[in-house]
Amino acid sequence: MRPYVLINSAMSADGKISTVARKQVRISGENDLQRVDALRARFDAVMVGVGTVLADDPKLTIKSQALKRQRADQGRTENPLRIVVDSRARIPSNAAVLGPNALVATSKRAPRKSVEELKNKAELLVVGENKVDLAALFECLKDRGVESVLVEGGATLNFALLRLGLVDAIYTFIGNIIIGGSDAPTLADGEGLRDDFVKLNLQEIRQIDDGVLIKWRIVGL
Ligand SMILES: NC(=O)c1ccc[n+]([C@@H]2O[C@H](COP(=O)([O-])OP(=O)(O)OC[C@H]3O[C@@H](n4cnc5c(N)ncnc54)[C@H](OP(=O)(O)O)[C@@H]3O)[C@@H](O)[C@H]2O)c1
Repeated sequence: MRPYVLINSAMSADGKISTVARKQVRISGENDLQRVDALRARFDAVMVGVGTVLADDPKLTIKSQALKRQRADQGRTENPLRIVVDSRARIPSNAAVLGPNALVATSKRAPRKSVEELKNKAELLVVGENKVDLAALFECLKDRGVESVLVEGGATLNFALLRLGLVDAIYTFIGNIIIGGSDAPTLADGEGLRDDFVKLNLQEIRQIDDGVLIKWRIVGL
């Protein structure tokens, strides 16, 4: 058993989620940023790979005070649980995502010193020998009552989850810029699939700002 898992991603018109320098780019307009904030507020947990933390240093908190209050009124934490998938505990101890209600999922390969440094900055969960075992992580999350996880990238984590069949839906906002670069990350990188592609079912297309939001449901591998 695992939680419901949704990948949300913003990409350029040429399918890039950032630049060749792997630095964050503003792809969404104001209305799409508000959509993402409201989406976050619906989820029990938000998850990113350590590559995204190293590149962008996101906070992953909800920006709108009204949405935070709404959650609190429902007896939930103001922000969803913030999860970083980080097999070797590479996350800097001053990363913005760390703090109360943050969880770093790591593996047995993480150096003890790094783990010790993180201990009072986040909850640590060791799942996997060399890499975080994503299926086992989701099982642990479900066991502790996490019913929904919003994955906010990046390219490597997205692909790993999709390949393992651990995703239920994908929302992509396609913005009105071209980024280019054969090494710039896309929605799903990793080793890629040669056959048995992940199949999607189109649920909705909607214009937001100067871009398009597309909602897909995963049909299967
Ligand atoms: N536009 C958007 O919506 C958006 C959103 C997020 C990020 N981004 C961009 O995406 C880029 C970062 O993507 P990224 O691919 O470099 O990093 P990432 O997907 O955020 O993180 C990948 C890392 O996660 C760790 N990991 C742990 N267990 C794993 C597992 N089982 N499978 C796969 N990975 C696992 C791996 O490092 P270890 O082996 O050390 O654990 C891996 O290198 C940045 O340029 C960022 O700006 C864009």
